[in-house]
Amino acid sequence: MKDHFQTIMYSLLSHNTFGIEAYAARFVDYHSEEELKRMVKDGLLQKRPYFCIGAGSNVLFTHPYYDWTFIHSAIRGVEVMHEDADHVEVRVGSGEVWDEFVQTCVDRGWYGAENLSLIPGEVGAAAVQNIGAYGVEVKDLIISVETLDRKGGRRIYEASECGYGYRTSLFKRADMKGLFMLYVNFRLSKHPCFKLDYGNVRQELAEGEITLERVRKAIIGIRRSKLPDPAVQGNAGSFFVNPVISRMYYEAVRVAYPQMPCYEMDAGRVKVPAAWLIEQAGWKGCKLGPVAVHDGQALVLVNRGGATGADVLRLADAVQKAVWNKFGIEIHPEVNFL
Ligand code: EPU
Repeated sequence: MKDHFQTIMYSLLSHNTFGIEAYAARFVDYHSEEELKRMVKDGLLQKRPYFCIGAGSNVLFTHPYYDWTFIHSAIRGVEVMHEDADHVEVRVGSGEVWDEFVQTCVDRGWYGAENLSLIPGEVGAAAVQNIGAYGVEVKDLIISVETLDRKGGRRIYEASECGYGYRTSLFKRADMKGLFMLYVNFRLSKHPCFKLDYGNVRQELAEGEITLERVRKAIIGIRRSKLPDPAVQGNAGSFFVNPVISRMYYEAVRVAYPQMPCYEMDAGRVKVPAAWLIEQAGWKGCKLGPVAVHDGQALVLVNRGGATGADVLRLADAVQKAVWNKFGIEIHPEVNFL
C-alpha cells in the first residue's frame, strides 16, 4: 500500500496534468476492493476530509495545500465476463489507464472504444465524467459501475441509473462525491460498428480498408495535431463544456453571427462549440501571465510554466466574461475545481 501519511506535505504535482504545484496531507492508493474495505473499517475516512482522485487530468488545484486524504484507485485488470458471437462483456479495474484499455480493445478486435483513443485519465473517472469524443460517449459502452460508499456499502449502478448526459453523470452530484469506483463493466462489439461522421475522421481514412487499428491511429493523429500534450505543456483538455442553449436564442444570435456553428441536442436545444465562441471573442492563443488559451484549440487552457490555480482561474474568468459580453452565452468549466 502506498501511504504517504508520514510526509504530511505530499506533492500533488505528478497527480494533475495541469502541472500545478499543490500539497496534500495524505495520499493513499487502493489496489483491491478488500484493501479499500479494510481502510474504511480502520477509520481512514474519519481523520480528515477525503477526495477520490483519478489521474488528475480533469482537476484544477486552486489552493496550495489540502488538509485532506487523497484516495486513488490502483485496481487494475481487464477480465472477460461473458462472450458470444457478437459481443464481449468485460470488467475493468477503475485504476486502469483509459487509453491502455482502448489499446487492449483494439488488439483483441473489440469494437466501440476506438474513437475515445488517447483521452487522458483512468477508467473510473471516465465513467464519472462520461468522457466523449468524435461522436462517441463512454456511456454508450457502459453496462454498469461497481462502487463502494464511505460506510463500506457496495452497490452496482446499471448504466440506466447513472444519470448520464453530456459530460455528466449521477456521480458528479455533490452528495455522490465520496463514492469509490471499483470496476466498470463494458460491452463491446465483435463486429465493426465504426462512427466516422464527426469532423474530418472519415476524410483521414479515405484510402484503404477501414480497420480498428487505422481508426485508432487516425483519432490519435487528429488529437495530436490539435491538442497539447500534457507531458510537454500542462493542461486538462477541454477546460469548458460546450454550452447548450435554446434554439430560439441561437437563431436570434445567429442574425448577428451567421457563421456560428451548432449541433442538434433535441427539439428545442442546440450545443454551440465553446471553442468557436472563445476564438471569436478574440482569446484564442492569448496569454495572461503564466497561462494561455491554446493556439490550436481554444477550448484548452495551458500552463506555460509555473502557473498557480489562481492564474488559471483569472484567465478562465476573463474568457467567460468576454464570451458573455459578445454573445450573451454563459460557458461553464468542465474541469473540477478543488
Ligand atoms: N472551433 C473553433 N476554434 C477552435 C476549435 C474549434 O472555432 O479553436 C470550432 C470549429 O467550428 C469546430 C468546432 O469548434 O468545428 C468543434 O471543435 P472540435 O471538433 O475540436 O470539438 P469541441 O466541441 O471543441 C469536443 C470535446 C473534446 C473532443 C472533441 C472531439 C467537449 C467539452 N470537448 O470539443 O474533448 O476531443 O469534441 O470530439 O465536449 C476533452 O474533453 O478534453 C476534449 C478534448
